[in-house]
Amino acid sequence: MAILKVARMGHPVLRAPARELDPSEIGTPAVQRLIDDMFDTMQEYEGIGLAAPQVHEGLRLFVAGVDDPDSTVPPMVMINPVVEPLGSAVAEDWEGCLSIPDVRGKVPRAVEIRVTAFDRTGRRVAFTASGFPARVIQHETDHLDGVLFLDRMRSFDSLTYLNEYKRYWEEHETAESRT
Ligand code: NI
Repeated sequence: MAILKVARMGHPVLRAPARELDPSEIGTPAVQRLIDDMFDTMQEYEGIGLAAPQVHEGLRLFVAGVDDPDSTVPPMVMINPVVEPLGSAVAEDWEGCLSIPDVRGKVPRAVEIRVTAFDRTGRRVAFTASGFPARVIQHETDHLDGVLFLDRMRSFDSLTYLNEYKRYWEEHETAESRT
């Protein structure tokens, strides 16, 4: 168990496409330890998701999960994830990123997606996700392609520091952004 150092925006590792894991690598102690350490790191910094490039590992792997009554994301480890939108519905909502600390902005994302990946046991998984979990999966998968949420914003009008977000935006979030 270890808390890993999180790369911040500007570090080239966040802009480099990550490589796929060979299925035979998934069960190795190094990859299993990395997954455990990524969960520890995500929890330490109160993240909802964390992708391997954010901890300086150029691998197509992310972890996610949060147990919040308003926005639950089941714990997951996704290896070599492939995400396809289902339908054309897109919603804008707030996102943040451990690599862009204390900043929030509204990002358009597909409302419903289909995901295929390997889990941490090397088993192939396929499922659909919608709403907040779908948003998190899209954000984390973007990290594997060197894409940050800022790149996805339609405009920077909503870009805000966390203090100002809490002061001016948080209470208005639900009504405005869940439509
Ligand atoms: Ni992020």
